[in-house]
Amino acid sequence: MLIGSTMVKTLSSHDRDWEFDPPWGHSFLTSEIDWQRPYERYETMRNNIVATGAEEIHYEIREIVAVAKEFEKMGVKVSWENIGDPVNKGEKIPAWIKSIVKEAADDESTYAYSPTMGLEKTRDFLAEQTNKRGGIKITKDDIIFFNGLGDAISKVYGLLKREARVVGPSPAYTTHSSSEAMHASTKPLTYNLDPHNHWYPDLDDLRKKVEYNPVVSGITIINPNNPTGAVYPKEIMREIVDIAKEFDLFVISDEIYANIYYNGTKSVLLGDIIGDVCGISMKGISKEVPWPGARCGWIEVYNADKDSMFKRYIKSIIDDKMLEVCSTTLPQSVIPNIYSDKRYRDHQKERNKLFEKRAILAHAMLEEVNGIHAERANGAFYMTVVFEKQLNNKQKLKIENKNVREYVERIVSNVAPDKRFAYYLLGATGICIVPLSGFESDLNGFRITLLETDEKRFEWIFKTLAKSIQEYLNS
Ligand SMILES: Cc1ncc(COP(=O)(O)O)c(C=O)c1O
Repeated sequence: MLIGSTMVKTLSSHDRDWEFDPPWGHSFLTSEIDWQRPYERYETMRNNIVATGAEEIHYEIREIVAVAKEFEKMGVKVSWENIGDPVNKGEKIPAWIKSIVKEAADDESTYAYSPTMGLEKTRDFLAEQTNKRGGIKITKDDIIFFNGLGDAISKVYGLLKREARVVGPSPAYTTHSSSEAMHASTKPLTYNLDPHNHWYPDLDDLRKKVEYNPVVSGITIINPNNPTGAVYPKEIMREIVDIAKEFDLFVISDEIYANIYYNGTKSVLLGDIIGDVCGISMKGISKEVPWPGARCGWIEVYNADKDSMFKRYIKSIIDDKMLEVCSTTLPQSVIPNIYSDKRYRDHQKERNKLFEKRAILAHAMLEEVNGIHAERANGAFYMTVVFEKQLNNKQKLKIENKNVREYVERIVSNVAPDKRFAYYLLGATGICIVPLSGFESDLNGFRITLLETDEKRFEWIFKTLAKSIQEYLNS
């Protein structure tokens, strides 16, 4: 086609002339087409169809899987410690939860669309749960369901005005940082979590980021935290809300791990301390039931009536949801029955006891290792380790399998130092972790899950990890 063949050329300033006076007429080109992007050749496409901001989409947690799959083909037994899926790691769903789900699957109505914002009965139930805590008071109209919290996250950032920025934690859970960066078509804006202060937010850093960036319109908190395993005390949560109030911002609190805390901690929810500040709490069943495959999460909106701008923004989220019709019906339908069952509390307690035991064991095995800082996890089911000794491109682990060794040597030539360690560890031991540089962090380190269900294997993983770190740093 003439138009297609015209566009196969490298864009020169001459080519750009026809941006304003193209041979086929003017109206079809929009100002959205950014000819400055690094896509110099339009080999087949008529126009640049890649969104500005597309470079900001990363999900290291799954990206390392491609490499691990290659190693599996070469005979490596991979221990998948990269993804926060308890079911994939062998956790069994209690029979009583399964029977509630089976019963729901016998009910024709669970095969139907649900209302746009979610089933009314479930939203009523969840509003009551929040109201019982004694802080914020909400109704079902403040709750919107999504197809997993990941879906909610991309909508919440995606529907903000492009210039309105939300500052989030670093290390970041990348679904937040990438979605926010994608909406703004630029790098994510972050405040530091401090590994030497239990991974709590560095409030001075946060305050500065807010104060000196007038575009900052909101603050994101993840508590309990992924990837660090930190659980924030009430004072920290309060101070963040105070900063939001002082600068007229809204707060997003990702509380998908709200009931996964241990070692004497207790998670403070945004609704407990929000006062009259505008906020969004994000919740879901992926980690807690656990049922990640249900793709079911929701947001609770706090104080929308206190600010007309915030209210209008929330309306845009609901309007957008209407275009999509609704979220998964069946998982929503079982939430009241599961959550109100007397066995649910014990189920949570049992799980938390297990995570506590694993967190203590993992910490004990890593804290003795020289050259790293390993903070004990107190919530969620991850631990993040930071390298304090300098990493370089000479450090190695011995890899017996020749094919794997050669593959590793090929792929580490131009990667972040902690990714280099992750690849060597994967090749040498089969342990698959996620480098911290993949979590929007300047620190070198890694995140590892505490999900291995086999006690012996869990011990082997952390012992091997400790030994490998030492070998790598001393090599
Ligand atoms: C902090 C955090 N938020 C959201 C999600 C996404 O949850 P969902 O499975 O509901 O999409 C995850 C999943 O790992 C998470 O760790």
